[in-house]
Order: sequence, then C-alpha cells, then structure tokens
Amino acid sequence: MQKREEWSSKLGFILAASGSAIGLGNIWRFPYITGANGGGAFVLIYLICVFVVAFPVMIVELVIGRKAKKNPVGAFKTIAPGSKWWIIGALGVIAGFGILSYYSVVAGWTLAYIIKAVSGGLTNSSVNPAEIFNNFAKNGVLQVTYLFVFSAFTVFVVIGGIKEGIEKAAKILLPLLFILMLLLIGYVLTLPNAMNGLKFYLIPDFSKVNSHTVLMAMGQAFFSLSLGMGAMITYGSYLPSDDDLFSSAFYVTFFDTLIAILAGFIIFPALGGAPSKSGPSLVFVVLVDVFRKIPFGEIIAIVFFILMAIAALTSTVSLLEVVTSYLIDEKKIERKKAAIGAGFVIALLGIPSALSLGANKFFTKIGFLDKMDFVFGNIFLTFGGLMMCLFVAYKWGLEYFLEHLSEGCEHVGKSHFNNWLKLAIYFICPLAIAVLLLYLLITGES
Ligand code: PFF
Repeated sequence: MQKREEWSSKLGFILAASGSAIGLGNIWRFPYITGANGGGAFVLIYLICVFVVAFPVMIVELVIGRKAKKNPVGAFKTIAPGSKWWIIGALGVIAGFGILSYYSVVAGWTLAYIIKAVSGGLTNSSVNPAEIFNNFAKNGVLQVTYLFVFSAFTVFVVIGGIKEGIEKAAKILLPLLFILMLLLIGYVLTLPNAMNGLKFYLIPDFSKVNSHTVLMAMGQAFFSLSLGMGAMITYGSYLPSDDDLFSSAFYVTFFDTLIAILAGFIIFPALGGAPSKSGPSLVFVVLVDVFRKIPFGEIIAIVFFILMAIAALTSTVSLLEVVTSYLIDEKKIERKKAAIGAGFVIALLGIPSALSLGANKFFTKIGFLDKMDFVFGNIFLTFGGLMMCLFVAYKWGLEYFLEHLSEGCEHVGKSHFNNWLKLAIYFICPLAIAVLLLYLLITGES
C-alpha cells in the first residue's frame, strides 16, 4: 500500500488548516453578523464560544483524523468497526458537497468584483452599488460562469495533493492575506469616521444580547473553524503521529479568530459606525459605496476583493479535499480524477444557488442559497459536532482518546488538563451544541 501523504512540517499543517478555517466566514459573515448583533458585545460572546465550545471540538476532530489516518467515513469505520458511526462521517462528506456548492457561488462574486474593480466598473460607475450588485446577481450566465471558474481554481489546487497543492497554496496565500489585511487596516484607520466605527465594534452594548445572540455566536464559531463536517478529521489524517495536537488546534483556533477580529478592524472603521445594512450585501454593496467615497478607493477595492478571494480559495480547497479524500480512500479513485469529478458535480449542484439571487424566479423565491447555508452550513455542522463529541465520550471512550492525544502532547495526564477535557467533551460541548441544534430546528433560522 502506498504511504499516506503527510504535511511537510507542523507549520505546513497549521497554515493549511488555518487556511481552511479562515474564509468568507471571517471576512464576510463575521462582520455582518457582528453588525446585526450589536457589535462589541457579540465579539466578546463569540470569543467565549470559540474557546469554550469550539476549541475542544477541534481537538476531537484532529485526534480522530490522526488516529485513523483516513477520510471522515473511513475514520469512523477504522476506529469503531462494525458500528454505524461511519454515518457521521458520511454526513460530513455530504456537508462538504453542500457547503462547497453555495460557498463557491459567493467566492465567484469576489472574482467578479476584482474584475469590476480593476476595470473601474465599481468605483467610477454612475450606477449605484446596490444596482451593480442586483444587475450582476440577476445575470444567470455570469453567475454560473464565475461559479465554474472559481471551482476550477479549487480543483487545480486539490489535484496538486497535500504538500504540493494545499500546503503550498496556503504557504503563499495566507501570509499574503495577512499583509493585505494589515495594509487595509492601516489605511481605513486614517479615515475621518474611523473612530465611530471602532466604538461600535469594540464597546460592548449588552442590551443587545439575548439567547439568540449567543447561539448565533456559537454557530458562527463552528462555521468559521470548519468544524462538524470532518474537514479537520481529513486534515488531521495527514499529520505525523508525534504531532502535539493540542498546540496545533490552538494555533489554528487563534489564527482564525485573529483574522475574524482583524476583518472587523477593516469593515467597521471603513463604514464609520454601525452598518446601515447588515445582511450579506454589507460587503458587496455598503462597502463598495464606501470605496467610492474615499481617496484611493479603486485600489482599496481591488485589494479588498483579492483578499476575499484568497480567503475563500484556501477554504474551498479544504471542502473539496474532504470529498476527494473520501473518493481516494474508500472508492480507490485516483486523486486527479476524484478532484475533477467531485469538483464538477459540486459546481453543477451550485447552479441553483447561483441562480437564486434574481436570475431564476423559482430558486429566488425559495431563497435557495440561504436554504443551503441553513441546512449544510448550520444544521449539518452542529449535528456533526455534537455526534463527534458523543462518539468520543460514549463510544470510543475518553481514555483511548486521551491516550492518543498524549502522543506528542505532554499536557495529557496533568489533572487540570484531563479534567478540563472531560468536562468539555462529556458535558459543556454536547450540551451547548445540542441547545444550538434544537434552536435551529425549532426556529428554522440562523
Ligand atoms: N471555515 C470556512 C469559513 O470561515 O469561511 C468555511 C468552511 C470551510 C466551513 C470548510 C466548513 C469547512 F469544512
């Protein structure tokens, strides 16, 4: 049997996994959810959710992946042979399909906006930004074209494999993303209303906080850290046996959160206050309006949308890798064929989402893209995260889990560390995630 590919170093893994985590969720979703939920208070609650609930789940996924050295389906089959737990992995692969299909649509918008920005069509046009967006959204041919173009980029990276494809892309793109972000922050902080924006972002207003806010924060933490669908199982499966998974999980969680927080430092000072609109159009409409009014706006717009495209690509790659690794391990399909085949089918599946912003009456009426996000980006991830905790707690057993985690991690065995993980995996995470899942199912909203 061929030896499973591995990341070339710990840094390589951390960058690739951070690339998966850092995505549209950080730069697009986090600011608009923060905007809609009262600013600073939401940020604080988000931080608590990330480190109390999501971080232990990240460790769980990495341990499962590295122990089994398989895709999510194979991982559960290896660790719990003869049981039905592999279904959790299968749901993860399906979630990969679902999320990638609509995520690539939004990712495609970033490409379109780079081109619009370069050609001056964003900042020098007499058409207002809302109309630019609507005209673009209504154009079915353009929507589908950008969806396929972005999917092709994703496939291209995944074909390269772990070291030469995914890791290499992350090593180039993430530092670039970080530099571009710092440049943008430096610039927007010089704008006249920057302080108003920062106040909204950083000074908590707890009157806006209710149970809905907390649950939104938790859902966002899961999505942002790519948890609940086996992306981290898959990436963990390419780790060597002696890696300290606790520190790896910590770095990934830290970088992802840092980038989300930094994205807020771009968006809110640029807006100069609380956002007037807080939905998905925040970036594609409201921010474009800002770019028009500020000096060097056209360059800032280009840089900003390049940044978004980079963030999106390192995430779409991880979504496709989940499906690809499944096809390679379980169906014995060669990487290139698996990546192209899966990428193509997923892009086809993305068409209804691409047409659901005005291009097609039916898909627009049912809000197909939002529905996909709700089902796959919310329900599947929460359910998956819950089941993974229950798997470790009640099927695999915490003892085995800790034993495997201890390879490379010297904290295992210290009583406060073991007690913390016990409390998290038996109690805090399953309970918190179950409440979120119930809330999503009952209210039908995210
Ligand atoms: N974490 C990504 C983001 O924040 O945009 C989205 C994502 C990627 C979710 C991969 C799930 C996943 F498996």
